[in-house]
Amino acid sequence: MVNLNDDHRLAKLIKSLRDKDKIKILFVCLGNICRSPAAEGVMKAVVESAGDSGRFEIDSAGTGNYHIGDLPDRRMRIHAQRRGYNLTHICRQVRPSDFEEFDLIVAMDASNRRNLQLVAPTPEAEEKIIMMADFADLATKYDHIPDPYYEGAEGFELVLDLLESACDNLYQQLKKY
Ligand code: 4NP
Repeated sequence: MVNLNDDHRLAKLIKSLRDKDKIKILFVCLGNICRSPAAEGVMKAVVESAGDSGRFEIDSAGTGNYHIGDLPDRRMRIHAQRRGYNLTHICRQVRPSDFEEFDLIVAMDASNRRNLQLVAPTPEAEEKIIMMADFADLATKYDHIPDPYYEGAEGFELVLDLLESACDNLYQQLKKY
C-alpha cells in the first residue's frame, strides 16, 4: 500500500514527464525473463496502438544476473504470444547508468525496489523508482506483480492481466493532451 507522501511523489513525478518529447521507461524484475520483459512488450504495444511509439523508449532489466543473454522464459513467451505480444528482449542486469538514462524505473515488487535502491547512484536517482502495481486496476488486491516463475499457467495469465491494466493506465497518465 502507498501512503499519501508516496502518492504525492508519484503524481508529481508523472506530471513532470507529461510534456516531454521523449519518455524513457525501464521495467525491472528479478530475473528479467518473466515479468519485466512482458511489461516491456505490453507497454510497447500500448504506445504503438496509440500511434505514440516515437515518444517512448522502453526497455527492461533484472536485478539478478542468473539469465543474462537469455530470451524471456518460454512459458512467458507462449502466454504473451497468445495475446499478440512477441517477446524478443535479451536479458540484461540493471546498472547504475540506467538511473541517468531512464526517466522512470518501474519495479514489479518490493524486493525489486530494495535491490534497485542499492544500485541507485544518488538519492535523486532513487526518486525515479516507482511500483508497477500502483497503476493496475487490480491493485486493491495485488500491491505487487507476483513472480510467476514457480507458478502454473494461471500465474503467467495473472501477470499479463495486471500488466495490461497497469500499462494502459500508465500510458493514460503520461500521454500529452
Ligand atoms: P522474473 O521471474 O523476475 O519475473 O523474471 C524470475 C525468473 C527467474 C528467477 C526468479 C524469478 N530465478 O530465480 O531464476
